[in-house]
Amino acid sequence: MADRSTHLATNLAGIHSPNPFWLASAPPTNTGDQVMRAFDAGWGGAVWKTIGDPIVNVSSRYSSVDLNGVRMMGLNNIELITDRTPEINFREIAEVKKRYPKQALIASLMVESKREAWHEMVKRAEGAGADGLELNFGCPHGMSERGMGAAVGQVPEYACQITEWVKEAARTPVIVKLTPNITDVTHVARAAKRGGADAVSLINTINSITGIDLDNFAPRPNVAGRSSHGGYCGPAVKPIALNMVAAVAQDPAVGIPISGIGGISTWRDAAEFILLGATTVQVCTAVMHYGFRIVEDMIDGLSNYLDEKGLSSVAELRGRSLGTVTKWEELDLNYKIIAQIEQAKCIGCGLCYVACNDGAHQSIGARPRTEGRTDVWILEDQCVGCNLCSLVCPVAGCITMKKVETGRPPINWKEFQKDPEKHAYLKNPHH
Ligand SMILES: Cc1cc2nc3c(=O)[nH]c(=O)nc-3n(C[C@H](O)[C@H](O)[C@H](O)COP(=O)(O)O)c2cc1C
Repeated sequence: MADRSTHLATNLAGIHSPNPFWLASAPPTNTGDQVMRAFDAGWGGAVWKTIGDPIVNVSSRYSSVDLNGVRMMGLNNIELITDRTPEINFREIAEVKKRYPKQALIASLMVESKREAWHEMVKRAEGAGADGLELNFGCPHGMSERGMGAAVGQVPEYACQITEWVKEAARTPVIVKLTPNITDVTHVARAAKRGGADAVSLINTINSITGIDLDNFAPRPNVAGRSSHGGYCGPAVKPIALNMVAAVAQDPAVGIPISGIGGISTWRDAAEFILLGATTVQVCTAVMHYGFRIVEDMIDGLSNYLDEKGLSSVAELRGRSLGTVTKWEELDLNYKIIAQIEQAKCIGCGLCYVACNDGAHQSIGARPRTEGRTDVWILEDQCVGCNLCSLVCPVAGCITMKKVETGRPPINWKEFQKDPEKHAYLKNPHH
Protein backbone atom coordinates (compact mmCIF):
# COMPACT_ATOMS: atom_id res chain seq x y z
CA MET A 1 0.00 0.00 0.00
CA ALA A 2 1.26 3.49 -0.85
CA ASP A 3 2.24 6.04 1.80
CA ARG A 4 -1.18 7.56 2.52
CA SER A 5 0.28 10.75 3.92
CA THR A 6 1.94 11.68 0.64
CA HIS A 7 0.37 9.81 -2.25
CA LEU A 8 -2.23 12.53 -2.90
CA ALA A 9 0.45 15.25 -2.96
CA THR A 10 0.29 17.29 -6.13
CA ASN A 11 2.52 19.62 -8.10
CA LEU A 12 0.82 21.82 -10.69
CA ALA A 13 3.45 23.78 -12.63
CA GLY A 14 5.47 24.22 -9.44
CA ILE A 15 2.52 24.91 -7.14
CA HIS A 16 2.56 22.21 -4.46
CA SER A 17 -0.46 21.04 -2.49
CA PRO A 18 -1.04 18.13 -0.10
CA ASN A 19 -3.87 16.84 -2.27
CA PRO A 20 -5.41 17.73 -5.66
CA PHE A 21 -8.62 19.16 -4.15
CA TRP A 22 -8.73 22.94 -4.49
CA LEU A 23 -11.58 25.34 -3.94
CA ALA A 24 -12.47 27.28 -7.10
CA SER A 25 -12.53 31.05 -7.11
CA ALA A 26 -16.06 31.78 -5.89
CA PRO A 27 -18.04 32.65 -2.72
CA PRO A 28 -16.42 29.84 -0.62
CA THR A 29 -13.05 31.63 -1.04
CA ASN A 30 -14.30 35.12 -0.43
CA THR A 31 -12.58 35.65 2.94
CA GLY A 32 -9.58 34.54 4.94
CA ASP A 33 -11.83 33.05 7.59
CA GLN A 34 -13.53 30.78 5.04
CA VAL A 35 -10.27 29.68 3.41
CA MET A 36 -8.72 28.85 6.79
CA ARG A 37 -11.76 26.78 7.77
CA ALA A 38 -11.54 25.03 4.40
CA PHE A 39 -7.87 24.20 4.95
CA ASP A 40 -8.72 22.89 8.41
CA ALA A 41 -11.34 20.65 6.78
CA GLY A 42 -8.65 19.22 4.46
CA TRP A 43 -8.73 21.17 1.20
CA GLY A 44 -5.32 21.10 -0.48
CA GLY A 45 -5.57 24.50 -2.10
CA ALA A 46 -7.82 27.48 -2.75
CA VAL A 47 -8.17 29.98 -5.54
CA TRP A 48 -9.25 33.25 -3.94
CA LYS A 49 -12.46 34.91 -5.12
CA THR A 50 -11.39 37.06 -8.08
CA ILE A 51 -9.70 40.27 -7.00
CA GLY A 52 -9.92 43.48 -9.00
CA ASP A 53 -11.41 46.90 -8.75
CA PRO A 54 -14.21 46.30 -6.25
CA ILE A 55 -17.61 46.23 -7.86
CA VAL A 56 -21.18 46.57 -6.72
CA ASN A 57 -23.46 43.56 -6.86
CA VAL A 58 -27.20 43.11 -7.30
CA SER A 59 -29.41 41.51 -4.72
CA SER A 60 -30.89 38.23 -5.82
CA ARG A 61 -27.90 36.62 -7.48
CA TYR A 62 -28.40 32.88 -7.79
CA SER A 63 -30.99 30.61 -9.38
CA SER A 64 -30.95 26.88 -9.95
CA VAL A 65 -32.40 23.92 -11.79
CA ASP A 66 -33.68 20.98 -9.72
CA LEU A 67 -34.16 17.54 -11.22
CA ASN A 68 -36.74 15.18 -9.76
CA GLY A 69 -36.08 16.16 -6.17
CA VAL A 70 -32.33 16.66 -6.56
CA ARG A 71 -31.77 20.26 -5.67
CA MET A 72 -29.27 22.47 -7.48
CA MET A 73 -28.50 20.02 -10.26
CA GLY A 74 -27.42 23.20 -12.03
CA LEU A 75 -26.61 26.54 -10.39
CA ASN A 76 -26.69 29.91 -12.13
CA ASN A 77 -25.27 33.18 -10.84
CA ILE A 78 -25.16 36.81 -11.86
CA GLU A 79 -22.60 37.72 -9.22
CA LEU A 80 -19.47 39.64 -10.18
CA ILE A 81 -15.93 39.49 -8.78
CA THR A 82 -15.13 40.37 -5.18
CA ASP A 83 -16.86 43.37 -3.67
CA ARG A 84 -14.04 43.80 -1.14
CA THR A 85 -11.02 45.99 -1.76
CA PRO A 86 -7.68 44.55 -2.92
CA GLU A 87 -6.12 45.84 0.34
CA ILE A 88 -8.40 43.69 2.46
CA ASN A 89 -8.05 40.64 0.22
CA PHE A 90 -4.25 40.82 0.05
CA ARG A 91 -3.99 41.37 3.80
CA GLU A 92 -6.06 38.24 4.41
CA ILE A 93 -4.10 36.23 1.82
CA ALA A 94 -0.89 37.10 3.67
CA GLU A 95 -2.46 36.00 6.95
CA VAL A 96 -3.74 32.70 5.55
CA LYS A 97 -0.43 31.94 3.85
CA LYS A 98 1.46 32.59 7.07
CA ARG A 99 -0.76 30.19 9.01
CA TYR A 100 -1.09 27.53 6.29
CA PRO A 101 2.25 27.36 4.46
CA LYS A 102 1.64 23.87 3.02
CA GLN A 103 -1.66 24.51 1.26
CA ALA A 104 -1.71 26.12 -2.20
CA LEU A 105 -3.09 29.64 -2.19
CA ILE A 106 -3.75 31.13 -5.60
CA ALA A 107 -4.80 34.73 -6.24
CA SER A 108 -7.41 35.04 -8.98
CA LEU A 109 -7.06 38.38 -10.74
CA MET A 110 -9.10 40.42 -13.17
CA VAL A 111 -8.23 44.01 -14.02
CA GLU A 112 -8.74 46.34 -16.96
CA SER A 113 -6.81 45.47 -20.09
CA LYS A 114 -3.80 47.72 -19.44
CA ARG A 115 -0.24 46.48 -19.01
CA GLU A 116 0.49 48.67 -15.96
CA ALA A 117 -2.72 47.68 -14.21
CA TRP A 118 -1.84 43.98 -14.59
CA HIS A 119 1.77 44.54 -13.49
CA GLU A 120 0.65 46.32 -10.36
CA MET A 121 -1.92 43.67 -9.41
CA VAL A 122 0.57 40.83 -9.99
CA LYS A 123 3.13 42.48 -7.73
CA ARG A 124 0.58 43.05 -4.98
CA ALA A 125 -0.66 39.44 -5.12
CA GLU A 126 2.84 38.03 -5.01
CA GLY A 127 3.81 40.51 -2.31
CA ALA A 128 1.02 39.06 -0.18
CA GLY A 129 2.58 35.63 -0.58
CA ALA A 130 0.30 33.96 -3.15
CA ASP A 131 1.78 30.70 -4.48
CA GLY A 132 0.45 31.37 -7.96
CA LEU A 133 -1.87 33.54 -10.01
CA GLU A 134 -5.03 32.60 -11.86
CA LEU A 135 -6.15 35.00 -14.56
CA ASN A 136 -9.91 35.17 -14.78
CA PHE A 137 -10.59 35.39 -18.52
CA GLY A 138 -13.86 33.61 -18.05
CA CYS A 139 -16.52 35.51 -16.15
CA PRO A 140 -19.49 35.46 -18.58
CA HIS A 141 -21.53 38.36 -17.21
CA GLY A 142 -21.06 41.87 -15.90
CA MET A 143 -17.30 42.00 -16.35
CA SER A 144 -17.26 41.15 -20.06
CA GLU A 145 -19.41 44.21 -20.74
CA ARG A 146 -16.48 46.18 -19.26
CA GLY A 147 -13.93 44.53 -21.56
CA MET A 148 -12.78 41.97 -18.97
CA GLY A 149 -13.45 38.30 -18.19
CA ALA A 150 -15.02 36.42 -21.09
CA ALA A 151 -14.46 39.42 -23.37
CA VAL A 152 -10.75 38.56 -23.10
CA GLY A 153 -11.19 34.79 -22.95
CA GLN A 154 -13.15 34.68 -26.19
CA VAL A 155 -10.45 36.37 -28.26
CA PRO A 156 -7.20 34.38 -28.47
CA GLU A 157 -5.09 37.45 -29.33
CA TYR A 158 -6.26 39.33 -26.22
CA ALA A 159 -5.74 36.30 -24.01
CA CYS A 160 -2.21 35.89 -25.34
CA GLN A 161 -1.43 39.58 -24.92
CA ILE A 162 -2.60 39.81 -21.33
CA THR A 163 -0.82 36.59 -20.39
CA GLU A 164 2.38 38.10 -21.81
CA TRP A 165 1.92 41.25 -19.72
CA VAL A 166 1.36 39.17 -16.60
CA LYS A 167 4.39 37.00 -17.30
CA GLU A 168 6.56 40.14 -17.61
CA ALA A 169 5.93 40.85 -13.94
CA ALA A 170 5.13 37.43 -12.44
CA ARG A 171 7.59 35.38 -10.41
CA THR A 172 5.07 32.67 -9.47
CA PRO A 173 3.28 30.23 -11.83
CA VAL A 174 0.49 31.72 -13.94
CA ILE A 175 -2.72 29.76 -14.56
CA VAL A 176 -5.09 31.04 -17.25
CA LYS A 177 -8.74 30.23 -16.48
CA LEU A 178 -10.68 29.48 -19.66
CA THR A 179 -14.26 30.25 -20.55
CA PRO A 180 -16.41 27.50 -22.06
CA ASN A 181 -18.45 30.12 -23.92
CA ILE A 182 -16.50 29.64 -27.11
CA THR A 183 -16.65 27.28 -30.09
CA ASP A 184 -13.30 25.59 -29.62
CA VAL A 185 -11.66 25.96 -26.21
CA THR A 186 -8.28 24.80 -27.51
CA HIS A 187 -7.82 28.06 -29.45
CA VAL A 188 -7.65 30.11 -26.27
CA ALA A 189 -5.70 27.41 -24.44
CA ARG A 190 -3.08 27.62 -27.20
CA ALA A 191 -3.09 31.41 -26.97
CA ALA A 192 -2.47 31.17 -23.22
CA LYS A 193 0.45 28.84 -23.87
CA ARG A 194 1.85 31.24 -26.48
CA GLY A 195 1.58 34.06 -23.97
CA GLY A 196 3.70 32.05 -21.54
CA ALA A 197 1.05 30.56 -19.21
CA ASP A 198 2.35 27.81 -16.93
CA ALA A 199 -1.04 26.07 -16.70
CA VAL A 200 -4.69 26.43 -17.65
CA SER A 201 -7.82 25.88 -15.58
CA LEU A 202 -11.24 25.10 -17.00
CA ILE A 203 -14.16 25.53 -17.07
CA ASN A 204 -15.61 28.77 -15.85
CA THR A 205 -19.40 29.04 -15.95
CA ILE A 206 -21.59 28.56 -19.03
CA ASN A 207 -23.93 31.33 -20.25
CA SER A 208 -27.43 30.46 -19.16
CA ILE A 209 -30.98 31.47 -18.34
CA THR A 210 -32.22 28.91 -15.82
CA GLY A 211 -35.90 29.58 -16.23
CA ILE A 212 -38.81 31.97 -16.52
CA ASP A 213 -41.36 32.54 -13.80
CA LEU A 214 -44.67 31.75 -15.54
CA ASP A 215 -46.65 34.00 -13.19
CA ASN A 216 -44.75 37.24 -13.67
CA PHE A 217 -42.88 36.38 -16.91
CA ALA A 218 -39.49 37.35 -15.42
CA PRO A 219 -36.33 35.29 -15.74
CA ARG A 220 -34.61 33.98 -12.63
CA PRO A 221 -32.93 35.22 -10.50
CA ASN A 222 -35.43 38.04 -10.29
CA VAL A 223 -33.95 41.51 -9.77
CA ALA A 224 -36.91 43.89 -9.56
CA GLY A 225 -38.79 41.97 -12.25
CA ARG A 226 -35.85 41.55 -14.61
CA SER A 227 -32.70 39.47 -14.90
CA SER A 228 -29.75 38.90 -17.18
CA HIS A 229 -27.97 35.85 -18.46
CA GLY A 230 -25.80 34.26 -15.82
CA GLY A 231 -23.12 31.61 -15.43
CA TYR A 232 -24.18 27.96 -15.12
CA CYS A 233 -22.26 25.41 -13.08
CA GLY A 234 -22.78 22.38 -10.82
CA PRO A 235 -23.37 18.71 -11.68
CA ALA A 236 -25.19 19.62 -14.90
CA VAL A 237 -22.04 21.02 -16.52
CA LYS A 238 -19.65 18.16 -15.73
CA PRO A 239 -19.96 16.39 -19.10
CA ILE A 240 -19.19 19.65 -20.93
CA ALA A 241 -16.22 20.30 -18.68
CA LEU A 242 -14.84 16.77 -19.10
CA ASN A 243 -15.00 17.10 -22.87
CA MET A 244 -13.18 20.43 -22.81
CA VAL A 245 -10.52 19.20 -20.41
CA ALA A 246 -9.90 16.17 -22.65
CA ALA A 247 -9.68 18.39 -25.75
CA VAL A 248 -7.09 20.65 -24.11
CA ALA A 249 -5.15 17.70 -22.65
CA GLN A 250 -4.97 15.98 -26.04
CA ASP A 251 -3.84 19.07 -27.92
CA PRO A 252 -0.05 18.87 -28.41
CA ALA A 253 0.01 22.62 -29.09
CA VAL A 254 -1.09 23.27 -25.49
CA GLY A 255 1.00 20.83 -23.45
CA ILE A 256 0.82 22.61 -20.08
CA PRO A 257 -0.77 21.29 -16.86
CA ILE A 258 -4.52 21.52 -16.32
CA SER A 259 -6.63 22.28 -13.27
CA GLY A 260 -10.05 20.72 -13.99
CA ILE A 261 -13.28 22.44 -12.90
CA GLY A 262 -16.99 21.89 -13.44
CA GLY A 263 -19.58 19.88 -11.54
CA ILE A 264 -17.18 18.06 -9.24
CA SER A 265 -18.92 16.85 -6.06
CA THR A 266 -17.26 13.51 -5.25
CA TRP A 267 -13.91 11.73 -5.48
CA ARG A 268 -15.30 9.84 -8.46
CA ASP A 269 -15.93 13.09 -10.35
CA ALA A 270 -12.41 14.22 -9.47
CA ALA A 271 -10.90 10.92 -10.61
CA GLU A 272 -12.60 11.29 -13.98
CA PHE A 273 -11.05 14.73 -14.50
CA ILE A 274 -7.65 13.38 -13.48
CA LEU A 275 -8.02 10.40 -15.84
CA LEU A 276 -8.63 12.92 -18.62
CA GLY A 277 -5.46 14.84 -17.85
CA ALA A 278 -6.14 17.19 -14.92
CA THR A 279 -3.38 17.61 -12.34
CA THR A 280 -5.62 19.27 -9.74
CA VAL A 281 -9.37 19.82 -9.55
CA GLN A 282 -11.38 22.78 -8.30
CA VAL A 283 -14.80 22.75 -6.65
CA CYS A 284 -17.38 25.49 -6.17
CA THR A 285 -21.07 24.47 -6.35
CA ALA A 286 -20.74 21.30 -4.27
CA VAL A 287 -19.21 23.34 -1.43
CA MET A 288 -21.90 26.01 -1.78
CA HIS A 289 -24.41 23.16 -1.41
CA TYR A 290 -22.90 20.89 1.25
CA GLY A 291 -20.06 22.81 2.88
CA PHE A 292 -16.30 22.30 3.23
CA ARG A 293 -16.70 18.89 4.91
CA ILE A 294 -17.20 17.04 1.59
CA VAL A 295 -13.45 17.03 1.10
CA GLU A 296 -13.05 14.31 3.76
CA ASP A 297 -14.86 11.77 1.57
CA MET A 298 -12.97 13.02 -1.47
CA ILE A 299 -9.60 12.39 0.20
CA ASP A 300 -10.61 8.96 1.53
CA GLY A 301 -12.22 7.89 -1.72
CA LEU A 302 -9.34 8.90 -3.96
CA SER A 303 -6.80 7.32 -1.60
CA ASN A 304 -8.70 4.03 -1.58
CA TYR A 305 -9.09 4.12 -5.33
CA LEU A 306 -5.35 4.60 -5.84
CA ASP A 307 -4.72 1.64 -3.51
CA GLU A 308 -7.24 -0.53 -5.37
CA LYS A 309 -5.54 0.27 -8.65
CA GLY A 310 -2.09 -0.33 -7.19
CA LEU A 311 -0.97 3.24 -7.85
CA SER A 312 1.28 5.17 -5.50
CA SER A 313 0.49 8.72 -6.63
CA VAL A 314 -2.17 10.86 -8.29
CA ALA A 315 0.34 11.58 -11.05
CA GLU A 316 0.24 7.89 -12.02
CA LEU A 317 -3.50 8.19 -12.61
CA ARG A 318 -3.28 11.36 -14.64
CA GLY A 319 -4.27 11.10 -18.29
CA ARG A 320 -4.83 7.34 -18.24
CA SER A 321 -8.11 7.65 -20.15
CA LEU A 322 -6.83 10.08 -22.77
CA GLY A 323 -5.87 7.31 -25.20
CA THR A 324 -9.43 5.98 -25.11
CA VAL A 325 -10.98 9.28 -26.24
CA THR A 326 -10.66 9.10 -30.01
CA LYS A 327 -12.28 10.51 -33.12
CA TRP A 328 -15.50 8.77 -34.18
CA GLU A 329 -13.89 7.52 -37.38
CA GLU A 330 -11.40 5.51 -35.37
CA LEU A 331 -14.04 3.45 -33.56
CA ASP A 332 -14.46 -0.26 -34.38
CA LEU A 333 -17.49 -0.72 -36.66
CA ASN A 334 -17.43 -4.49 -36.05
CA TYR A 335 -17.93 -4.14 -32.30
CA LYS A 336 -21.47 -5.29 -31.60
CA ILE A 337 -23.63 -5.36 -28.48
CA ILE A 338 -27.31 -6.08 -27.95
CA ALA A 339 -29.64 -5.62 -25.00
CA GLN A 340 -30.68 -8.37 -22.64
CA ILE A 341 -33.46 -8.24 -20.05
CA GLU A 342 -33.21 -10.11 -16.77
CA GLN A 343 -36.85 -11.10 -16.54
CA ALA A 344 -36.68 -11.81 -12.79
CA LYS A 345 -35.91 -8.12 -12.18
CA CYS A 346 -38.40 -6.68 -14.70
CA ILE A 347 -41.33 -4.82 -13.08
CA GLY A 348 -43.27 -4.79 -16.35
CA CYS A 349 -43.52 -1.00 -16.63
CA GLY A 350 -43.13 -1.15 -20.42
CA LEU A 351 -40.97 1.97 -20.55
CA CYS A 352 -38.18 0.24 -22.49
CA TYR A 353 -40.73 -0.86 -25.10
CA VAL A 354 -42.18 2.64 -25.50
CA ALA A 355 -38.75 4.30 -25.66
CA CYS A 356 -37.43 1.80 -28.19
CA ASN A 357 -40.57 1.70 -30.28
CA ASP A 358 -41.23 5.45 -30.47
CA GLY A 359 -37.78 6.86 -29.88
CA ALA A 360 -35.26 4.41 -31.25
CA HIS A 361 -35.09 1.22 -33.32
CA GLN A 362 -38.25 -0.90 -32.73
CA SER A 363 -36.27 -3.81 -31.26
CA ILE A 364 -38.38 -4.74 -28.23
CA GLY A 365 -41.42 -6.99 -28.31
CA ALA A 366 -44.27 -6.35 -25.83
CA ARG A 367 -47.48 -8.03 -24.70
CA PRO A 368 -49.91 -6.60 -22.07
CA ARG A 369 -50.32 -8.72 -18.98
CA THR A 370 -53.49 -8.89 -16.89
CA GLU A 371 -52.19 -7.05 -13.80
CA GLY A 372 -51.59 -3.92 -15.87
CA ARG A 373 -48.03 -4.95 -16.52
CA THR A 374 -46.30 -5.46 -19.82
CA ASP A 375 -44.15 -8.43 -20.76
CA VAL A 376 -41.13 -7.31 -22.80
CA TRP A 377 -38.39 -9.12 -24.70
CA ILE A 378 -35.54 -8.12 -26.99
CA LEU A 379 -35.83 -8.76 -30.73
CA GLU A 380 -32.18 -9.67 -31.04
CA ASP A 381 -32.11 -9.53 -34.86
CA GLN A 382 -33.39 -5.96 -34.75
CA CYS A 383 -31.34 -4.58 -31.85
CA VAL A 384 -28.61 -2.13 -32.95
CA GLY A 385 -27.07 -1.89 -29.47
CA CYS A 386 -27.91 1.79 -28.92
CA ASN A 387 -28.23 1.44 -25.08
CA LEU A 388 -31.48 3.47 -24.84
CA CYS A 389 -33.56 0.74 -23.12
CA SER A 390 -30.85 0.25 -20.48
CA LEU A 391 -30.76 4.01 -19.90
CA VAL A 392 -34.52 4.42 -19.36
CA CYS A 393 -35.08 1.21 -17.35
CA PRO A 394 -35.88 2.23 -13.74
CA VAL A 395 -34.50 -1.01 -12.23
CA ALA A 396 -30.75 -1.22 -11.72
CA GLY A 397 -29.20 -4.19 -13.51
CA CYS A 398 -32.44 -5.27 -15.20
CA ILE A 399 -31.40 -4.37 -18.75
CA THR A 400 -27.74 -4.80 -19.63
CA MET A 401 -25.87 -4.90 -22.88
CA LYS A 402 -24.05 -8.05 -23.96
CA LYS A 403 -21.29 -8.40 -26.50
CA VAL A 404 -22.04 -10.41 -29.61
CA GLU A 405 -19.13 -12.40 -31.03
CA THR A 406 -19.18 -11.66 -34.75
CA GLY A 407 -15.82 -13.30 -35.41
CA ARG A 408 -14.91 -10.25 -37.50
CA PRO A 409 -11.68 -8.32 -36.93
CA PRO A 410 -11.87 -4.64 -35.90
CA ILE A 411 -12.41 -2.18 -38.73
CA ASN A 412 -12.77 1.60 -38.50
CA TRP A 413 -14.56 4.01 -40.80
CA LYS A 414 -11.41 5.00 -42.67
CA GLU A 415 -10.67 1.35 -43.48
CA PHE A 416 -14.29 0.80 -44.45
CA GLN A 417 -14.13 3.77 -46.82
CA LYS A 418 -11.20 2.22 -48.71
CA ASP A 419 -13.35 -0.70 -49.89
CA PRO A 420 -17.03 -0.30 -48.94
CA GLU A 421 -18.13 -3.25 -51.07
CA LYS A 422 -15.83 -5.64 -49.25
CA HIS A 423 -17.59 -4.70 -46.00
CA ALA A 424 -21.06 -4.25 -47.51
CA TYR A 425 -22.64 -6.04 -44.51
CA LEU A 426 -21.94 -2.90 -42.46
CA LYS A 427 -24.57 -1.03 -44.49
CA ASN A 428 -27.21 -3.18 -42.82
CA PRO A 429 -27.80 -1.61 -39.38
CA HIS A 430 -28.73 -5.04 -37.99
CA HIS A 431 -25.61 -6.81 -39.25
C1 LIG B 1 -21.69 32.36 -7.24
C2 LIG B 1 -20.46 32.09 -8.06
C3 LIG B 1 -19.47 33.03 -8.14
C4 LIG B 1 -18.33 32.78 -8.91
N1 LIG B 1 -17.35 33.73 -8.95
C5 LIG B 1 -16.22 33.47 -9.65
C6 LIG B 1 -15.14 34.40 -9.64
O1 LIG B 1 -15.19 35.44 -8.97
N2 LIG B 1 -14.04 34.12 -10.37
C7 LIG B 1 -13.94 32.97 -11.10
O2 LIG B 1 -12.90 32.75 -11.74
N3 LIG B 1 -14.96 32.06 -11.13
C8 LIG B 1 -16.06 32.28 -10.41
N4 LIG B 1 -17.06 31.35 -10.39
C9 LIG B 1 -16.91 30.11 -11.19
C10 LIG B 1 -16.32 28.95 -10.39
O3 LIG B 1 -15.01 29.26 -9.96
C11 LIG B 1 -16.26 27.65 -11.23
O4 LIG B 1 -15.44 27.86 -12.37
C12 LIG B 1 -17.63 27.19 -11.71
O5 LIG B 1 -18.60 27.44 -10.72
C13 LIG B 1 -17.65 25.72 -12.09
O6 LIG B 1 -17.38 24.88 -11.00
P1 LIG B 1 -18.55 24.11 -10.16
O7 LIG B 1 -19.38 23.35 -11.16
O8 LIG B 1 -17.82 23.25 -9.17
O9 LIG B 1 -19.35 25.17 -9.50
C14 LIG B 1 -18.20 31.56 -9.63
C15 LIG B 1 -19.21 30.60 -9.52
C16 LIG B 1 -20.32 30.84 -8.73
C17 LIG B 1 -21.39 29.78 -8.61
